[in-house]
Amino acid sequence: MTLNINKLNFSYPDGHVALKNISLRIGRGEKVALVGPNGAGKSTLLLHLNGLLVGQGEVKINGFAVTKSNLPLIRAKVGLVFQNPDDQLFSPTVFEDVAFGPLHMGLSESETLTCVQRALSQVDMSHYADRMSYHLSIGEKKRISIATVLSMNPEILVLDEPSAGLDPRARRTLITLLRNLPLTMLVSTHDMLMVRENFPRMIIMDEGQVIADGATESLMNDIALLEAHGLERPFDVESKA
Ligand SMILES: Nc1ncnc2c1ncn2[C@@H]1O[C@H](COP(=O)(O)OP(=O)(O)OP(=O)(O)O)[C@@H](O)[C@H]1O
Ligand SMILES: [Mg+2]
Repeated sequence: MTLNINKLNFSYPDGHVALKNISLRIGRGEKVALVGPNGAGKSTLLLHLNGLLVGQGEVKINGFAVTKSNLPLIRAKVGLVFQNPDDQLFSPTVFEDVAFGPLHMGLSESETLTCVQRALSQVDMSHYADRMSYHLSIGEKKRISIATVLSMNPEILVLDEPSAGLDPRARRTLITLLRNLPLTMLVSTHDMLMVRENFPRMIIMDEGQVIADGATESLMNDIALLEAHGLERPFDVESKA
């Protein structure tokens, strides 16, 4: 699964220019972090990957343009988890939320059950199947949101702030899960430690533009660049010792 974005521009209806001439390419199996200050345009960019927002320019998934006629195909391949879990969960129970995607793709009830059980166990929430999604805590909702996408067996995982609001154990489970999933990933986050642990490549956005795109290891050492864009090098455990 490859992702190609070419000269993408987008303005919100109120005229705010949120994406300016974004071009990037993500190859099959690459794990890429998208970082940058609040308001940089990270969520706006991610919403273009499954056609929820449509700007000017080109967005292609595996060579297919993200256009209306390709949307069913693209949404089956691109698993997008929103920043706000309330945008993702809408069913009465956790089970129904996580089963929605597989059922919609035409899987049988028993196949769906298998997918739901696997996805819930991947986020350590198997015991939540019968709970009401609406009443969950923010961190619980976030984990169920991730399960709603994993249950569809996506080929590209697009996560918007997946570790925000998670407790340390849930965050650790998520980091391990993401590291072991052999999928193409684009993940927006402020969690620089997770970036360093899991994402060999990092894209810095600011004011709607791509400021830097390269190896995490070298960008993390460019303190001036990080500071100029509201970022911090993650706390270095080794150097404290
Ligand atoms: N519906 C909207 N109408 C007008 N402007 C919007 C809308 N949604 C977002 N924006 C603006 O677009 C810019 C980019 O927002 P976006 O949510 O993509 O930022 P972000 O990088 O995801 O930030 P954060 O780190 O806070 O999640 C911001 O200035 C925001 O105020
Ligand atoms: Mg955002």
